Amino acid sequence: MYKYSVSILGTGFIGLCSAACFAEKDIKVLASTHNQKKASMINDGIAPFYEADLQEIMDDIKANNPELLQCLLDPVKAILETDISMITQGTPMREDKSIDLGFIESTAREIGEALKQKDSYHLVVVRSTVVPGTSRNLVSKIISEVSGKVPGKDFGLCMQPEFLAEGRSIKDTLRPDRIVIGALDDKSGDMLQEFYEYFYGDHLKNCPILRMNLESAELVKYGNNCLLSTKISFANEFANFAQLVPNVDIVQVMKGVGLDYRINERFLGPGVGFGGSCFHKDVNAIKAWSKSKGYPSRLLEAVLDINDDQAIRIVDMAEELAGDLKNKRITLLGLAFKPGTDDMREAPSIRVINELVKRGITDIVGYDPKANETAEIELGNKIAYANSIEQALNDSECALLITEWEEFKELKPDDFKKHMKSPNLIDGRRIFNYETFNEKLPFRAIGRVNPN
Ligand code: UDX
Repeated sequence: MYKYSVSILGTGFIGLCSAACFAEKDIKVLASTHNQKKASMINDGIAPFYEADLQEIMDDIKANNPELLQCLLDPVKAILETDISMITQGTPMREDKSIDLGFIESTAREIGEALKQKDSYHLVVVRSTVVPGTSRNLVSKIISEVSGKVPGKDFGLCMQPEFLAEGRSIKDTLRPDRIVIGALDDKSGDMLQEFYEYFYGDHLKNCPILRMNLESAELVKYGNNCLLSTKISFANEFANFAQLVPNVDIVQVMKGVGLDYRINERFLGPGVGFGGSCFHKDVNAIKAWSKSKGYPSRLLEAVLDINDDQAIRIVDMAEELAGDLKNKRITLLGLAFKPGTDDMREAPSIRVINELVKRGITDIVGYDPKANETAEIELGNKIAYANSIEQALNDSECALLITEWEEFKELKPDDFKKHMKSPNLIDGRRIFNYETFNEKLPFRAIGRVNPN
């Protein structure tokens, strides 16, 4: 089995986590970025962003095999000195919510420039999330035009989607539950499969490699993120049904539904909705793409609408519980889009705060164990930032639990009574014991109401 060397073009979550994991397994990796500061940090063995376990792996590489992971500012050099190039650039959302393929295009051009100078076969692998048709009609075409080389003969092409979740990127890279390889032809797919057979070894006994064409592989990634988002909006739709009559508890309902072996409970957690860098971006991208092809998606439109509306619903619940919120201090517990990260991208807290501000509520205090700084960059002085739970609750007349950090799960009804002016509490993630909290506090929770 041949051990191929790899260039990784793009050093975000997917790029750097893959680069570090490959290098840790003795594979020569040349990462490339145009960001000088990032490149020097990586070359000094320092992760330029926080991701669980990443720094530990980089420390290990630095101590034992620093030559295996280098970061260059020159992508052409990185491509020329390796056998396989992986495109791991971002595909952000444009203002009109469609996909921005600008970074993919410029990277394809760089690959073309390099392949112009290369005589031997080279494999290009698209790892970024791209709409169907992009690998064949954009990436391959640009490489061909710039290099004068023929796809399938001089270079191979694969599309291998990734499914990393933030905070789990290293675990997900090392232990995926499947590997999807879309390929232009057998030779390309076989080469990438050989690379992964070396990298994963025995793990492949529990992890199928699924081979398909380029376009199907591109759509698998959207299928994943759209179905996960749909599950969440489905749980929230049912949480809203649950609130139509007394006594129904959405948590028990979703447990009952999720235990069906055809469904499973994961991602049926009701709450203030999903956030993060992928779900909105990808659901919007594929929705805009299908519309551009003449098929507007009613399902995905509803998934996004239900998600956005959860922010309005939680503010409605707060007003029902605590009365008019104007001129009252309101607390948000949790600002990050999920626990374990300081990432504020598309965080539900932003939608909740915008809704509060829209209703004329201006005395808002937020606290997050990790995301206060990133939240301030995103939200500026729309809210005040507390340094502790106590400070956040001080003088407050309604607290909204937005992100389910472990430290919030420890809170008892007395903590709210002790610090707040009036201890109204809304559980937007269903982390508190409903019976206990409902007995001891003016309390509402997503997906459950009691008889008056
Ligand atoms: C997601 C996908 O899981 C990953 O496969 C893909 O590659 C990128 O997008 P990530 O955005 O890091 O990963 O976070 P994830 O853990 O999936 O959570 C996304 C959002 O959904 C969070 O805001 C979370 O709070 C919310 N969520 C999740 C729910 O509201 N309910 C649930 O039951 C599960």
